[in-house]
Amino acid sequence: MSQFDYIKDIAKYGLENDQEKLLAVLNELIEHSKNTKKLNFAIQLQSILKDSIRQQQEKPMLKVGSPGHFQRLDEREVDELILEKLTSDYSFENLVGTDKIKSELDYFVREHMSADLLQKYGLPIANKLLLHGPSGCGKTLASYVIAGELKKMMIVVNLGAIVSSKLGETSKNLAKIFRKAAAEDCIIFIDEFDSLGKVRDYSQDHGEMKRVVNTILQLFDYLPQSSILIAATNQVDMIDNALLRRFDLSVTFSLPSPEEVKDLLNLTLKDGQYKFDRPKAVAEIIAAAKGLSYYSIQKTIVTAIKRSIFELDRKKSRALYVTINTDLLADLIEQEKKALSVMAS
Ligand SMILES: Nc1ncnc2c1ncn2[C@@H]1O[C@H](COP(=O)(O)OP(=O)(O)OP(=O)(O)O)[C@@H](O)[C@H]1O
Ligand SMILES: [Mg+2]
Repeated sequence: MSQFDYIKDIAKYGLENDQEKLLAVLNELIEHSKNTKKLNFAIQLQSILKDSIRQQQEKPMLKVGSPGHFQRLDEREVDELILEKLTSDYSFENLVGTDKIKSELDYFVREHMSADLLQKYGLPIANKLLLHGPSGCGKTLASYVIAGELKKMMIVVNLGAIVSSKLGETSKNLAKIFRKAAAEDCIIFIDEFDSLGKVRDYSQDHGEMKRVVNTILQLFDYLPQSSILIAATNQVDMIDNALLRRFDLSVTFSLPSPEEVKDLLNLTLKDGQYKFDRPKAVAEIIAAAKGLSYYSIQKTIVTAIKRSIFELDRKKSRALYVTINTDLLADLIEQEKKALSVMAS
């Protein structure tokens, strides 16, 4: 038999899930390789085989059609509903905001850290959080902060895959995600939560939207105390009132105040690693940045830092810190405002 014949047999038996024949043909190939002086290949193949046998002794290979096989298929389907599964290193230090926002989020985190204490008093633990406000003001970031502070895995729901035009499918998908999150003790993050209300557009069936809202209400009501659901939206008025009421905490994010722009500057300038080229720069930038989101402001600062680094490099400077060209940053801010049509004030 040639090497190709072995490969054909391996493909065949592998796809048919015929373990016995697969092992036999692999062993034959190992022998064949040894005989044809492909010793390295033979050894590698042998070690793959040994590893797999060792693993199988712990977890037998699944037969197509067995209950285990269906469970795996089910898991794969759930995986498609998940955009990302992540752990986070973010902490409250990464988030700029009012004291009110920070203390509300801090209490939320603390409830989970002190769950035992609260349960001793028979008190429920807040676990459904709604983050709302304009784009680029820290809603997604806040969810990462919570995941990081609690050191919990977070599942980011893939809304595009969850929302289905098939009747009843959206509800089923949601239930699957909630089940998985409860089983794996993760945080569920649903971004653009309002778009769950847009199911109506897909099916032209108002009943379907009602069904989705009802499903979410039920899922909320039966959410285990240790599970956490975070939803974010910049269109809070699109969300059904009954749903809004179910959130334990609703946090409003807003565009940064001058004080917050200053905090954001400090955070982004890494407390002195980067400095401005003139003393009044911070006040100038704060005034210029009015009306922009945290995201836009940070983006312009980072761009200005990068261009200033290029400038230093061009001049072969040996400075210990990067000096940011304030005029350049002011220009970038103006461009950003123009691009976003932010009114000058
Ligand atoms: N409050 C904030 N503090 C510090 N950085 C922020 C803040 N808000 C936004 N940023 C910066 O902007 C980035 C984008 O923000 P984020 O994704 O959290 O916005 P969002 O509110 O979720 O916006 P969208 O509604 O568009 O999803 C963050 O990763 C962070 O770098
Ligand atoms: Mg976001």
